[in-house]
Amino acid sequence: RAAPQEARPLEGRRVLVTSGPTHEPIDPVRYLANRSSGRQGHAIAEAAARAGAVVTLVSGPVTLPDPAGVAVVRVETAREMLTAVEAALPADIAIFAAAVADWRPESEATTKKIKKDGSGPAPLALAENPDILATIAHRSEGRPGLVVGFAAETDSVIDHARAKIARKGCDLIVANDVSAEGAVMGGADNTVHLIGRDGAVESWPKAAKDEVARRLVARFGEMVAGS
Ligand code: CTP
Ligand code: CA
Repeated sequence: RAAPQEARPLEGRRVLVTSGPTHEPIDPVRYLANRSSGRQGHAIAEAAARAGAVVTLVSGPVTLPDPAGVAVVRVETAREMLTAVEAALPADIAIFAAAVADWRPESEATTKKIKKDGSGPAPLALAENPDILATIAHRSEGRPGLVVGFAAETDSVIDHARAKIARKGCDLIVANDVSAEGAVMGGADNTVHLIGRDGAVESWPKAAKDEVARRLVARFGEMVAGS
């Protein structure tokens, strides 16, 4: 008897996922970044591929292996991530799980290492990076049918996520509590809350990031079914 077929609710769908941190160079040896392992985003890309989707994963610098069955585009900075995301469209579903650096050093990194000269540290002027999720969600043409954002919060998780969904123009926010007690960043487990456009909240029990990924992918499949 044949083994039971895995459910493939995303058969033939095009899915784009961003994952990992971005690195914003200060000089050839230093950068600005944030704590993100890429585990949740990579797990979502892999789960989407297993569900039958054609998946492009745009990933910042991570130490994870490439997920099976996924086309991976590696980038370093937020601006490179935006360019790679635009090149990967169109997509039916776009999931923005990357922890993009909000700011980058204002002056282009020189090829020379900045040296201590005894007069104290040079001030580091910052410029704001493009908001990749908002840019894609607010597109009038070629907007993916389902745009999902993530929100990493340390406090007032639901309130912040509700404000974010309105500001970003996405269809769904997956919020997670990254306060120290949660140990989410870099950890194997995640506790997520799904916030819809109408503000409705669905809180899921803590689970392994792989399991959260499978459940999220099943949900995204339901949301695009029939479209
Ligand atoms: N995001 C993005 N590009 C950015 C910043 C964020 O695509 N430059 C995306 C993230 O991938 C995530 C969502 O926006 O899906 C929310 O990111 P978050 O950092 O929580 O939101 P911000 O608007 O940057 O707000 P803040 O960091 O001040 O909480
Ligand atoms: Ca941010």
